[in-house]
Amino acid sequence: MYNLSQKLADIIHHDHQLLPILNRFGIRLGFGDQSVGEACKTHSINAEFFIEILNTYHDPDYFPRDRFLDFPLPLIVDYLKKTHQYYYAFYIPEIEKQLNELIASAPGENILSLLTRFYLKFKQELHEHLHYEDQFTFPYVLNLQKLYELGGPITNPELLPAKSIIEFEETHSDVDSKLLDLKNIIIKYLQADYNDNKCNILLTTLYNFEDDLRDHSRIEDKIMVPKVLQIEKLLFPS
Ligand SMILES: [Fe+2]
Ligand SMILES: [Fe+2]
Repeated sequence: MYNLSQKLADIIHHDHQLLPILNRFGIRLGFGDQSVGEACKTHSINAEFFIEILNTYHDPDYFPRDRFLDFPLPLIVDYLKKTHQYYYAFYIPEIEKQLNELIASAPGENILSLLTRFYLKFKQELHEHLHYEDQFTFPYVLNLQKLYELGGPITNPELLPAKSIIEFEETHSDVDSKLLDLKNIIIKYLQADYNDNKCNILLTTLYNFEDDLRDHSRIEDKIMVPKVLQIEKLLFPS
């Protein structure tokens, strides 16, 4: 596991897949010999939270649930929102660009238009999910946190929410299954005369995105949701 006294540069040499996480926290390259702790200080980042996020991305088997549950909800939601922004600004355009390059490498092949159809289904599912969380789930969580800080339980019926966090977070598996469909059509059924390298690049990006999404959803399902459920119980005892 990485720790706060290690040099950030050494960590990146060891696992360069962590680079996007650094960007999400506002750390850009050129950090010299700074340790993780020093870099966090420079960028006013909660170092304990940052190192736990780095370690969970680095090792899929590492997930310090109890440690995460100690961090405040606004910090967790802020990180989740930044991850969405990264998906919108980087991953989705990048996948689209690589898919278009693959299609351009094999003009007139029908299987590639099928691939585009699967991609569009996945993109729609993903967009709907991210948009829903940005528009409804995260504001709900932050509002609830504010109510909690005011003290509870809530007795004014106007302040009672229409639904619980459980109903907000139900669609992760739909996004996962559409991404699996997309990968499967490429791996199992792509027999067109396409450019192998372009196809490998696209598949690698899809796998990386899948890992990123898995970790993101894990923080939502296993940290944000249970924390919110706890607050709901305190504020709205039935
Ligand atoms: Fe999300
Ligand atoms: Fe989600």
